[in-house]
Amino acid sequence: MAGVAETAMESVIGKPVPRVDGPLKVSGTARYTSDHNLEGMLYAVPVCATIAKGRIRSLNVAAAESVRGVKAVYHRENIGKVFRTAPAMGFSLMSDERRPPFEDDVIRYWGQYVAVVVAETFQQAQAGAAAVQVSYDAEPHDVSTELALPAGESLREESKRGDVAAAFASAPVKIDATYVTPAETHNPIELHASVAAWDGQSFTLYETSQAVWNQREVLAQMLGVPLDNVRVISRFLGSGFGGKLWPWPHSVLAAVAARKLNRPVKLVVSRRMMFQNVGHRPLTQQRVRVSAKADGTLLSLDHEALNHTAILDDFSEGCGEATGYLYSVPNVRIASALVRRNVGSATAMRGPGAVPGLYATESAMDELAVALKMDPVALRLKNEPKLDESLGLPFSSRHMVECLQVGAEKFGWARRTPQVGSMKADGKTLGWGVAVASWIAARFDCEAKVELRADGSARVACGTQDVGTGTYTVLAQVVADKAGVPLDRVEVVLGDTTLPPGPISGGSMVTSSMIPAVGDATRQAIETVLLAATSSKTGPFAGKKRGEVEFANGRVQLKGDASSGVGFGEVLAAQNLSVATGSGKSGATFGAKPTVSQHSFGAQFVEVTWQPEIARLRVSRVVTVIDAGRVLNLRAGRNQIEGAVMMGVGMAMFEQTEYDHKTGATINNSLADYLMTTHADAPSVDVTFLDYPDLTLNEYGARGIGEIGLAGVAPAITAAVYHATGVRVRRLPIRIEDLLANQKLA
Ligand code: MOS
Repeated sequence: MAGVAETAMESVIGKPVPRVDGPLKVSGTARYTSDHNLEGMLYAVPVCATIAKGRIRSLNVAAAESVRGVKAVYHRENIGKVFRTAPAMGFSLMSDERRPPFEDDVIRYWGQYVAVVVAETFQQAQAGAAAVQVSYDAEPHDVSTELALPAGESLREESKRGDVAAAFASAPVKIDATYVTPAETHNPIELHASVAAWDGQSFTLYETSQAVWNQREVLAQMLGVPLDNVRVISRFLGSGFGGKLWPWPHSVLAAVAARKLNRPVKLVVSRRMMFQNVGHRPLTQQRVRVSAKADGTLLSLDHEALNHTAILDDFSEGCGEATGYLYSVPNVRIASALVRRNVGSATAMRGPGAVPGLYATESAMDELAVALKMDPVALRLKNEPKLDESLGLPFSSRHMVECLQVGAEKFGWARRTPQVGSMKADGKTLGWGVAVASWIAARFDCEAKVELRADGSARVACGTQDVGTGTYTVLAQVVADKAGVPLDRVEVVLGDTTLPPGPISGGSMVTSSMIPAVGDATRQAIETVLLAATSSKTGPFAGKKRGEVEFANGRVQLKGDASSGVGFGEVLAAQNLSVATGSGKSGATFGAKPTVSQHSFGAQFVEVTWQPEIARLRVSRVVTVIDAGRVLNLRAGRNQIEGAVMMGVGMAMFEQTEYDHKTGATINNSLADYLMTTHADAPSVDVTFLDYPDLTLNEYGARGIGEIGLAGVAPAITAAVYHATGVRVRRLPIRIEDLLANQKLA
């Protein structure tokens, strides 16, 4: 907009600014969903099926109803009408488990809700739930972790170029291997929860939601009330990792109970239920065939992926996400299919698709490098594409080569000796491995409102939410930068459907989505301030034309004359105005026909130490180089990548949701039994951002950070494990006993 001078004062963009919501969190005053305790509130506890397949024969609630404090027990007979939602369009009306709770008496997975008990206290509700007697007609279930294409079905081709079969058949060097990643459970510290209130007409729903606007649409339809009669609030999230993107059945149960009993109802999903009722990353089984000339030039890449899915829901992991554009390959085929199992609905988990997909394809690349006797960094550099060959479009900003070069330099890769077990330090065998990372970059629809206030402060409001990644802080930075307001004077309001519709906290896209809308809203508010200044009958800018004044560093001034500047707050106050407002709106690029290929990139270099004599494998060192556009907040950005690397260590070494084949239950369903990376497992992590702005996405060139840091970590670890032990791990997580049994000692 003309007349807005470049800000001369030092910008907060790119700085390692601490979280603006940090003090609230460390002082315990940030209120998460389950912290909301409403007047007269009741507690709900679901009853979970104890078979994985079959039917409910009988459900006896008499004993439960007689437990002191129990107000009601709801089940199929008395829940009343709960509707399905209309088919999803884009990211509207999304839910993973589309069957409303108690819709039929069929059990399709262990733990499926069969009833819900509502009582005066949580303990009474628990006692009531334990007293509900359910008998079942059980049928044989299937939670098998060996996947095969269902009879009569064929793989769905997602992408194809050239002729992979012919190229593979005649190639001199080839790898044909199958890789398995287990079901993984999202384990954010904050449990899923819902606190529902009903005032006789409208619902107020406090939800652990990564997408309040979608939550509202889904709940309104399931409850059969107008959209306007539902308000969803999610102010703070103790993370979600994708598990909280879409509504789950407990949410509608809490709302239905609140309406029936005309009292607020709180339902907190237990940690055990987190393993069965609120999604997981599905088991994947991927066959990769890759071939090359003797000099390492890739000839073909064929990626077939199966993933397990629930009986009723069709969640595709999308393992081929990054396969089509990562390398220059003339012949490519990506195909997938779903295999039904008696498990709860699968859903997006951090870096869905690309993360398990890259484990398979990057592992195959490492195997190919070994077969070629070629350095794995050199193999990747050799096949760097000039454009996105799957779309036939240029990349908006791709610096993969630099990621690999900078990473190799920082890691000391040149000192690597390729022979298995050939590197030693401190009596341990070292393994060094590498893999590349990639993740989508795009924008979702976003609206935002900005206020510049007479007290010199600013307010920005958007119906997105902060999943814990720093959205409050980054939004404050954007407004501080654009309006010249000190960071601590920017109020950020998020997580409420009374605010303008904002993006889902998914796909690492909130930052890139909100910049254009918040930027426009701020510029509009500034323009209002300038009009107020020049339309005034008094004051320093009275009688000036709009073109004679400008806005700089939070002040209105005569063009080019900083000494004439008056703070916007004073300008507003002088005219008895409380506020100047602006609104902004920007459109999605996600799902639109692309004109350029937008992705983030990275390289992961990993060192493991191997001590077979004490059966110990450790990830000791990770160097990660990330090309995610411009980084708006170095501290929040580094924090995201470090956290993602820890998750990658967990993916390679520990994480696995195990189903009991006898009962169909998830058996390691606690934080004691489901292993994740702990502090003691944490390697040293060196994070570098290349920081090339990608201006095709927004005016700062920020692509978004989070999921990219997890991509490529697991295959870099298994590559390092191969280098140390000679054992190629094709089924995660890595098992020490396999390494001990099969290691090749140097
Ligand atoms: Mo993330 S899996 O896009 O919430």
